Amino acid sequence: MFKNAFAPLLAALVYVGAAHAWFRVACTTPLVTERIDPIVSPGVIGTNHVHTVHGSSGFSATSNTTDLRAGSCTSCEVSPQDMSAYWFPKLYFKDPADGHFEEVPNGGLLVYYLQRGDQEKINGGPGLTAFPPGFRMISGDVTSRSSQGGQGYDNQQELAQSAIQWYCLRYTTSDPDYVGYGFPTTDCEAGFNARIQFPSCWDGENLDSPDHKSHVAYLSGLDNGSCPPTHPVGLMHMMFEITWDVHSFAGRWSEPDWPFVYATGDPTGYSQHGDFLSGWDSVALQNAIDNCNNPNDETGNGVTEACSYLTVISQDTATTCKADPVVNEQTGGTNLSKLPGCNPLQAGPQNATLYSTSNCPI
Ligand SMILES: *[C@@H]1O[C@H](CO)[C@@H](O)[C@H](O)[C@H]1NC(C)=O
Ligand SMILES: *[C@@H]1O[C@H](CO)[C@@H](O)[C@H](O)[C@H]1NC(C)=O
Ligand SMILES: *[C@@H]1O[C@H](CO)[C@@H](O)[C@H](O)[C@H]1NC(C)=O
Ligand SMILES: *[C@@H]1O[C@H](CO)[C@@H](O)[C@H](O)[C@H]1NC(C)=O
Repeated sequence: MFKNAFAPLLAALVYVGAAHAWFRVACTTPLVTERIDPIVSPGVIGTNHVHTVHGSSGFSATSNTTDLRAGSCTSCEVSPQDMSAYWFPKLYFKDPADGHFEEVPNGGLLVYYLQRGDQEKINGGPGLTAFPPGFRMISGDVTSRSSQGGQGYDNQQELAQSAIQWYCLRYTTSDPDYVGYGFPTTDCEAGFNARIQFPSCWDGENLDSPDHKSHVAYLSGLDNGSCPPTHPVGLMHMMFEITWDVHSFAGRWSEPDWPFVYATGDPTGYSQHGDFLSGWDSVALQNAIDNCNNPNDETGNGVTEACSYLTVISQDTATTCKADPVVNEQTGGTNLSKLPGCNPLQAGPQNATLYSTSNCPI
C-alpha cells in the first residue's frame, strides 16, 4: 500500500524554492487513531470525531508540552528535539453499494517547516521565533461545509480558507495533477494529498486562545508576505501534507460522485483541519532557525539531516512508536456501519452542528 508516497510528494511540492531555508519532519505511520483532542476538548474521552495522530507517545486527552516532551518515543522522525503532536481527521470510504464505511490507507504525514515572511532574516527581518513551550494552534474548521468567503489573500478569512487545500496526484496517467478546495471528483491515482498551511504570525503573548486561532494570524501572502500589526512575531511557516491511497478503491465508485468522507461527518471536504501541540525543545528549534538557514548548503534545501541541531531517526524506529487508544471502539477496518462517534453526514452548505456523542456507545 503506497510505500513510496513521500518521494513523489516532494517533487510535486511546487512552491518550495531553493535559497529559502526549510526542513521537514516525516511521520510515516500514526501513533494512534482515536477520539481525543487535548486542544479542543481537554480531558474528554470520546470527542466529536476520530483523529489520526502522529508524534509523541506522551499524547493524551490532557497532554501539554511538558507531557509530550516526557514521552518515551515519537512516531515522527526528528527526535528527541521534536516531541510535538500533530493530528487531523481520519478519511473513510463510504461504499456506494451498501453505505458502510472503510478506513482509507494513509501514506503518512510530512510536516514542512519553512522560513517565510518579512520577519525572516533572509527577507530582511529580525528573524523567526521558535514555538514557545505550551504553544498550540489549529488551522481549518471542523464545522465548515463550503467555502467561507472565497479563497483569496485579501483578509484573514480568505487566507484561512486558502490554507486548506488538496492536490489530486494523477501523474501515473496522462491526466495531470489538479488542485482545489473541498473534495475532488476523480480518482487520484497517485494519492489524495491534503495540504494544511498554518498561521505564521503570533501575538507574542498567548500560547493559546479560546478558538485556538486568534493568538495567531496568517501571513499576508499565506506562505510569504507580512504579519499584521496585531500579530508581529514571525514563526516558522508550518504545513501538513497528508496522503491517502484513495486509488485502492478505484472501480467501486463512479466519477464524479466522490465517495470519501472525513470522520467529522463531512462529504464535502471543507471540514479539513490540522491541530498542532508543540513538543519542541524550543532552544533546539531556535538554533535550527538561526543556524540552519544557509541558502548555499543543504540546510537551505530541505535536507533535515544537514541541520546539526536536529537528529533524524530512522523510519523503522519511528514506526515502532505506538500508543494504545483510550477510547474502546473500532475506528478502522473495512466494515463500519457508522462513523465512530455516530457522526451523521452533514453536507452543508451551511455550517455543520457538532453532533453529541452521548447516545453513541463507546
Ligand atoms: C503541563 O501541565 C503540568 C501539570 O499541570 C504543569 O506542571 C506544567 O507546567 C505544564 N507545562 C506547560 C508547558 O504548560
Ligand atoms: C518572499 O517575499 C520576499 C519579498 O518579496 C521575496 O524576496 C522572497 O523571494 C519570497 N520568498 C519566497 C519563498 O517566495
Ligand atoms: C459487515 O457488518 C454487517 C453488520 O454489521 C454484517 O452483516 C456483514 O456480514 C459484515 N460483512 C463483512 C464482509 O464482514
Ligand atoms: C460558519 O463558521 C465560520 C467559522 O466559524 C464563520 O466564520 C461563518 O460565519 C459561519 N457561517 C455561518 C453561515 O454561520
